Amino acid sequence: MTFLFNSDAKRGATFAETFARELPDIAFSMDPASVEPEAVRYLITWTVPDDLARYRNLEILFSIGAGIDQFRIDAVPARVKVVRMVEDGIVRMMQEYATLAVLALHRDLPAYLDQQRRDIWQPIQPVQAAERRIGVLGLGMLGSAVLERLQPFGFPLSGWSRSPRAIGGVRCLSGAEGLDTLLATTDILVCLLPLTAETRGFLNAELFARLPAGAALVHVGRGAQLDHQALADALDAGHLSGAVVDVTDPEPLPAGHAFWNHPRILLTPHIASVTQAETAAAAVIANIKRHRAGLDPIGLVDRSRGY
Ligand code: NDP
Ligand code: OXD
Repeated sequence: MTFLFNSDAKRGATFAETFARELPDIAFSMDPASVEPEAVRYLITWTVPDDLARYRNLEILFSIGAGIDQFRIDAVPARVKVVRMVEDGIVRMMQEYATLAVLALHRDLPAYLDQQRRDIWQPIQPVQAAERRIGVLGLGMLGSAVLERLQPFGFPLSGWSRSPRAIGGVRCLSGAEGLDTLLATTDILVCLLPLTAETRGFLNAELFARLPAGAALVHVGRGAQLDHQALADALDAGHLSGAVVDVTDPEPLPAGHAFWNHPRILLTPHIASVTQAETAAAAVIANIKRHRAGLDPIGLVDRSRGY
């Protein structure tokens, strides 16, 4: 029985050590060319390999990341469980990044960076946290953790999800009406939705128009959720005041793209959160143990929802 690791060698070395200690009956390999394909029961990867069909006894396909939209899930046999990454390191890093981004927008950092580049020393009237309303799209592992981390700053917090949720200190909304309410009362919108047929192109001109004038965006979901032109237009028209963008489509952006030098956009190369080897190995091993005990793995993807 083999676990095949198809990602970077550095994280692979940590996985190999942890597997040897915790699941010594499972052979661990980082080399698809040298494994017996029939022996592979578990595969962890970022994208689905073209030759997936050769692993005909595969039981679980693990994503090395929290998202699974990069998998062509229809090409994965129905008997194979698809499991996203649910681990503490990825959560902690997203909490850090989202806090950094919200505070940067709250304290007008894009505008001050622009002023610095133009030799301008000009204070901007500050807004107090109690007056800055934060709205988070997506109340899953990451959205709810980000809201928890933002609580001590004193921002009024809201979140939106597909099904109703309850989080202490957060106004939780759902459904189309809930989205209307959230957008109309949000000054900094944070997108932490998974990419699905329903959320592709979600951050578009129509959505931006529903935000109050002067609102700002933190986009950490997936690039294909954002209409790039609509964001640039809303910023250039002054309806939106700033954006922190970590994910784009394509990645990287082509030379000359409007985001590279936009004075109101802070752009990072999809680094908001990265799976951490130690905690991820522990999470994957715990999931294999659950699976062997007849339990569903944590992070099992519901194919009908697409996340
Ligand atoms: P989860 O699956 O835990 O949570 C997803 C949330 O989005 C849930 O609250 C879900 O609602 C909600 N949702 C999904 N579809 C809709 C919809 N159509 N309308 C309203 N709400 C919806 O995901 P995670 O929190 O773990 O991750 C979210 C995404 O973050 C990932 O899919 C990935 O794209 C992105 N990501 C980005 C990273 C980066 O570095 N930039 C790093 C890691 C992840 P409900 O609660 O009802 O199910
Ligand atoms: C992820 C990511 O999905 O890094 O984990 O985007």
